[in-house]
Amino acid sequence: MIDALPFDAIEQRCEMKQILVGRTGGPEVLEIVSAPSPSPGRGEVLVDVEAAGINYVDVYQRNGAVDYQPVPFVPGYEGVGTVRQAGPGVASLAIGTRVAWINVLGSYAQQLVLPSDRAIRIPSTFTTDEGLLFQGVTAQYLLAEYHQIKPGDFVLVHAAAGGVGQFLVQWLKRLGAVLIGTASTEAKLQTIRSLGADHAVNYSDGNFLDAVFEITKGRGVDVAFDAVGATTFSSTVKALAPRGTAIAYGQASGVAPDVQIYPLILKGARVAGGSLFTYIQDPAEMQQRAAELICGIEEGWLSALPTTQFPLHDASSAHRAIESRSTQGKLALIP
Ligand SMILES: NC(=O)c1ccc[n+]([C@@H]2O[C@H](COP(=O)([O-])OP(=O)(O)OC[C@H]3O[C@@H](n4cnc5c(N)ncnc54)[C@H](OP(=O)(O)O)[C@@H]3O)[C@@H](O)[C@H]2O)c1
Repeated sequence: MIDALPFDAIEQRCEMKQILVGRTGGPEVLEIVSAPSPSPGRGEVLVDVEAAGINYVDVYQRNGAVDYQPVPFVPGYEGVGTVRQAGPGVASLAIGTRVAWINVLGSYAQQLVLPSDRAIRIPSTFTTDEGLLFQGVTAQYLLAEYHQIKPGDFVLVHAAAGGVGQFLVQWLKRLGAVLIGTASTEAKLQTIRSLGADHAVNYSDGNFLDAVFEITKGRGVDVAFDAVGATTFSSTVKALAPRGTAIAYGQASGVAPDVQIYPLILKGARVAGGSLFTYIQDPAEMQQRAAELICGIEEGWLSALPTTQFPLHDASSAHRAIESRSTQGKLALIP
């Protein structure tokens, strides 16, 4: 007869799947591996991942080109899931609570341990797509921190059909901006228009300045959001109106060139760098920013991004897709 194993021993034998980056490189370095199911420590919870969001920062870290993460690591900062187990000292999150998170590395996995104060409660009515908050919270801080948008301000958003781009377009229209969105294909321009953009400009030949000056009657834009980098940023700065602000918050096409200061002086213009992680370091601040996004979705003036789903084991195809520029909206891995 076999004695029953103590509960702890059974837990330790459980395994889960996760994606590992063992060396930096192309999408092929994303490997699915087995790992012991993690246990939550004091102040932590273990969640079963329902979907892990894919963000461009995952690509930067995987290829190691512009954002280095020591290998080996499990990529992914964002997801939505259900609390399976609470560690000591966690009283506020019951088993079965549905939560989201936006800055916990290791999210490309079936299970994940997160600090309980980083778990964001989401409404029970939220779909999986609505629970993926990373890009929406990015739009929130980009709009809150750099320039108070006034009705009638001209605003330029690059890659406006992308993940962050679609949230920016919707939120800016809510604030009354006159919105110029750029994208690389007619289908993407159609998406931008359907979200309410006033002008949709194809920038695939590298030129969007002519369109900006034609639309703004030579004045330029009050604010520009640029996460494309190498192929756009010099012109983005030129597109600013006097006292305008350009926010560089990514480099999907490669590292942006250095900015010349003198033209900024002449225009009284500003260039700022944006980093989500600096604005969500403090858990209370993160919860507040997420609450604003959740509110917009609940009130119906913000729509969650339509998600293209990939199975967890096919993370490399998801990375190939986002890097190919063929995607719109959100990509997610389903464990
Ligand atoms: N700093 C922050 O706080 C922060 C936070 C979140 C995201 N980001 C940045 O925001 C950007 C958007 O992120 P996302 O996750 O929502 O991705 P995404 O916008 O869904 O995808 C990136 C888009 O960039 C455009 N792009 C232009 N040149 C490209 C190139 N050479 N290769 C690939 N794409 C190119 C493509 O749109 P078109 O085909 O229309 O050109 C593509 O769809 C990324 O640069 C990301 O790093 C920054």
